Amino acid sequence: MQVLRVTGGTRLAGSVDVVGAKNSVLKLMAAALLAPGETTLGNLPAISDVTIMRELLERLGCQVAESADGAVDRVTITTPEAINPEAPYELVRKIRGSIAVLGPMLARTGRAKVALPGGDAIGSRPLDMHFAGLERMGADIRTEHGYIVAEAPDLRGASIWLDFPSVGATENIMTAAVLAKGTTVIDNAAREPEIVDLCRMLVSMGAQIGGIGSSTLEITGVEELHGTTHHAVPDRIVAGTWALAAVATRGDVTVRGANATHLEIALDKVVRAGGEVEVLADGFRVAQADRPRSFDVVTLPYPGLASDLQPQAIAALSVAEGTAMITENLFEARFMFCDEIARMGADVRTDGHHAVVRGRERLSGAPVRATDIRAGAGLVIAGLVAEGVTEVAEIHHIDRGYVRFDEQLRGLGADVERVESDSFGG
Ligand code: EPU
Repeated sequence: MQVLRVTGGTRLAGSVDVVGAKNSVLKLMAAALLAPGETTLGNLPAISDVTIMRELLERLGCQVAESADGAVDRVTITTPEAINPEAPYELVRKIRGSIAVLGPMLARTGRAKVALPGGDAIGSRPLDMHFAGLERMGADIRTEHGYIVAEAPDLRGASIWLDFPSVGATENIMTAAVLAKGTTVIDNAAREPEIVDLCRMLVSMGAQIGGIGSSTLEITGVEELHGTTHHAVPDRIVAGTWALAAVATRGDVTVRGANATHLEIALDKVVRAGGEVEVLADGFRVAQADRPRSFDVVTLPYPGLASDLQPQAIAALSVAEGTAMITENLFEARFMFCDEIARMGADVRTDGHHAVVRGRERLSGAPVRATDIRAGAGLVIAGLVAEGVTEVAEIHHIDRGYVRFDEQLRGLGADVERVESDSFGG
């Protein structure tokens, strides 16, 4: 089995580059389905989720080509007049983000058959708000044989209140509404930077959207959209991962290509840990001289602290001075990570959606398994501050969201290798 073998004890120092956000790019790619013709997307991360989304678009009838000038971070998607209305299970099951094709497919063809993505290692992830919103717009949605079957020959604008500012539901409702008849108002909409990015791309395709960046979006449907060129927003979760890795390792890391304003609460936690944060024109620098001090964490929809940074924060807190309280409000099963980091000696106790982390001087290297993308990143950070060798298995999770994570870590001085290991048996 391929693992990341991390030998602990080095301070991360140097500079890393952050590119486009996975959780934006997947949705931007899906939104290309809304307009026949060519859409060019830039700042794409070379991660496996993007490859899978690309295969899915091809299955739906699009052509996806690298840019003619050979730039690896840019693709041109050519969307046909008639798109194939079925998104198959073998691709959808691999990435949750693929559910983002539902809104565009319904808007373009009046029907969509999209496999139900299924379970996830971070907890149950229902789609009820996606369905309720689309139903209010006139869609008929049923699930049969593991597929969502949606029909809406005549999508109409509607007033929609979300029970929770769900990222995925906001996106699917928005991408259906841009081509519906009349005006849709989404109240309690998600306002993550990735949602703003999608709104900007849709506007550049000819969509009419008001309230961008707020929790009330007003979308007036238009007859048709046209292709565009769009540069994806930087990945704030990857940038935040580097910030927390710098804190944990008492490092000094400059993160280029990031937007510090998307990480206000996370960077405030860095300051509470005793770190120094310098905001730069194209990113930020985090320098942590002494052992970090504990800070509490409450995950919330944006602008709250992202749940996607919770395991990396726990990794830093596991070697901090003092005790921290973590409250996870989005994905209850994310604390599965705590059982793994406990194998490395971390003192973490969980109760429901709370965890208490009592910082230790250091952790001790052990074989551990990544259960999802962010847990994987958290375990690698833990490995960097552990005595001896840590082997992190199931690294395909890490490759879903981090571009050449091991190579970037080595660039910062870490002792990390991608190797075959027999610690985990067959
Ligand atoms: N929810 C419902 N019903 C719904 C939709 C969501 O109950 O119909 C609940 C979820 O169970 C969860 C909460 O609402 O408790 C928030 O879910 P949301 O819909 O906002 O999340 P998502 O769209 O499924 C995206 C990211 C996640 C990220 C969350 C929160 C993508 C592909 N995924 O998921 O990213 O954690 O938003 O910010 O965009 C990751 O990148 O590692 C990752 C898991």
